[in-house]
Amino acid sequence: MSVPNAFPSARDALFFTPGPLTTSLSVKQAMLHDAGSWHFEFNAVVARIRERLLKLAGLSRENGWEVILLQGSGTFGVEAVFQTCVPPDGNVAVFTNGAYGERIVQMLQCARIPHVVAHAAEEATLDPAALEDLLANEPTISHVAVVHCETTTGILNPIEAIGRVVKRHGKLLIVDAMSSFAGMPIDFAAAGIDFLISSANKCIEGVPGFSFVFAKRPLLLASEGWARSLSLDLLGQLKGFDKNGQFRYTPPTHALLAFDQALHELEAEGGVAARSERYRRNHETLLSGMARLGFRPLLAPAVQSHIITAFRYPNPSFDFATFYGKLSGRGFIIYPGKLTGGHLPHQQHRAASASRPGTTRCRYRRGARRDGHPCETCFKRLTILP
Ligand SMILES: Cc1ncc(COP(=O)(O)O)c(C=O)c1O
Repeated sequence: MSVPNAFPSARDALFFTPGPLTTSLSVKQAMLHDAGSWHFEFNAVVARIRERLLKLAGLSRENGWEVILLQGSGTFGVEAVFQTCVPPDGNVAVFTNGAYGERIVQMLQCARIPHVVAHAAEEATLDPAALEDLLANEPTISHVAVVHCETTTGILNPIEAIGRVVKRHGKLLIVDAMSSFAGMPIDFAAAGIDFLISSANKCIEGVPGFSFVFAKRPLLLASEGWARSLSLDLLGQLKGFDKNGQFRYTPPTHALLAFDQALHELEAEGGVAARSERYRRNHETLLSGMARLGFRPLLAPAVQSHIITAFRYPNPSFDFATFYGKLSGRGFIIYPGKLTGGHLPHQQHRAASASRPGTTRCRYRRGARRDGHPCETCFKRLTILP
């Protein structure tokens, strides 16, 4: 059940971004303590976080799953999977329709890991039939890597249909679910997921500092000796936790304290189902308000996630910097567009639905009181173009 406004917001700007995003006051307050990275109390927090994450994902150690926390942002977690879990004779198929898929390609290039890339248009979801062809023609492929919610556009890729193809061909599936995990239900078994990565400052609404990787323990253990990096060695990290419950190297202590509180707040809100519902409602509010102001979403509704929405510039003379500056002056932070193809008729900017419970409405009301007119009017003023 959803508990709106159970946890107060700080008076910071309201972030309409896919992360870092607006955190509650209590999440920020959880960081007002020092924690000894070797101390038993802190180790207990780390252990609790790992238990809670597994539960949140619907996974368990009894069923062979592990979750490994890794210092650094989300990119570090994704890279750690490739650096550790692809064997020396492995070959990764990257199925990409945006900037984060392209980042995976860059990671593989840097690590000199053999790979093949299948590109799809940024406004189209990845087509399982295209993957079928690729896997049929490239028997050396060992792993398939996809981004679930491609944050470039907010498109939601069909990981269950993709997973069925991957499993039919007996390959392993790596899913970058950075901006979707905990923002919508993910069925690991139905999608045949072997590795899934997300990070602290996305839909769990913690602060930046670490990523986490869900992995099948036997697959991790099988990667002994493959790591191409010391600090990104996921198996080494797991062994550290197995040995004494600790990070191998200095952990982001404050970010972990905040994350523990963020997980508590997610559970109190009603879990992933309730959070997903809040984001969906925020998304609908955003779509209808923006439509009234003349902004059209980039994507067709059928492929649009409720996590992040890309809008086309309303006309060729629209100036994003001016729009951004005026919005931020009123306490709203959005994101510039991130399209990689440059083939679209208009550029885009992005706004996320992952704002705190009720804060969107509160801010609107506060804005209305201060300015004496409804928020939509504020937005309309901001879109006055040269
Ligand atoms: C899908 C996806 N993958 C990877 C990343 C990279 O995460 P980070 O910026 O935390 O390194 C992001 C960031 O937004 C993302 O949305």
